Amino acid sequence: MLQQLEELKLNALQELGSIGSPGELEDWRVRYLGKKSELSMLLRRLAALPLEERKAVGTLANELKAHLEDSRRQKELALQELAASAREEALDITLPGRPVPTGRLHPLTQTLDEICDIFVSMGFQVVEGPEVEWDYYNFEALNIPGEHPARDNMATLWVDFEAENGERPMLLRTHTTSVTARIIEGATPPIRAVEPGKVYRYEASDATHVPMFHQIDGIAVDKGITMADLKGTLYEFARRFFGEDRKVRFRCDYFPFVEPGVEMAIECSVCGGEGCRLCGGSGWIEILGAGMTHPEVLRRGGIDPEVYSSFAFGMGIDRLPMLRYGIDDIRLLYGSDLRFLRQF
Ligand code: DAH
Repeated sequence: MLQQLEELKLNALQELGSIGSPGELEDWRVRYLGKKSELSMLLRRLAALPLEERKAVGTLANELKAHLEDSRRQKELALQELAASAREEALDITLPGRPVPTGRLHPLTQTLDEICDIFVSMGFQVVEGPEVEWDYYNFEALNIPGEHPARDNMATLWVDFEAENGERPMLLRTHTTSVTARIIEGATPPIRAVEPGKVYRYEASDATHVPMFHQIDGIAVDKGITMADLKGTLYEFARRFFGEDRKVRFRCDYFPFVEPGVEMAIECSVCGGEGCRLCGGSGWIEILGAGMTHPEVLRRGGIDPEVYSSFAFGMGIDRLPMLRYGIDDIRLLYGSDLRFLRQF
């Protein structure tokens, strides 16, 4: 009988160990501690035993009963804890993930990238130059000497710099044409380059002006370059950037560094050429200046204008996203307001 109890204990505890749910635990309880369980039967049969044996078996059987009940309670608590933590740490792997916010490029950067891509596909390379520039590359090399009235059109921010020993004065470049002057000086033709970047003018801010804005200039130098190359290149640019159907117009204009000089305009996107407030009633919007590079500019840069010819162009960038998205205040482009920027 004592042996029977030992075996019972072993089996019961072993089974208890592998139980994983309250239902199984209840079955176990019925089997080992219930009224019809082996242990209960055994206890009931005690009375029939001789006194000595009854004492020994009885003590052991009661101990076993208490032990099993104890173990059952512990198991019950463990199962409860398991259920609670499963509830707390529940992870629904079928839920869609939360989107990670992604950054984006500033509309001006997007515009510059797009323009550069168009010119790169036509064989131009992208070149950058310094924003703090010598007077020489911003003006002198471009046929704009000290007293030239063209200087008045570009309110210049001068850098406080004592010119000594013949050093030339410095400024914040007023146009990216300064990079064109550097390219002409430094390279051997054929040259095809575009030069995007920031430019500065001494001007108060309003809806259409900021003291720092963006331009891109371009230059092509080779033997036999003509006005037809200039027009073909800029037409192609306009077609790709503004769309196939947009009308483009060239008119004469004056810039000291080109001869002849032209201005290119596109049909107004708002009125389609009828005339409205955006285009000042003309139906056209000027977007760039261009021309055949002045022989004197080539000569200064060490390129013989008898052998080579060249066209150049320059345009403001900021108006392009403004026209495209209907932005009516240039300052929005420089305000870093995320509510504005997240729209692009
Ligand atoms: N630099 C001129 C400006 O800021 C624009 C320009 C006109 C650039 C004609 C050129 C050009 O390269 O050929 O107004």
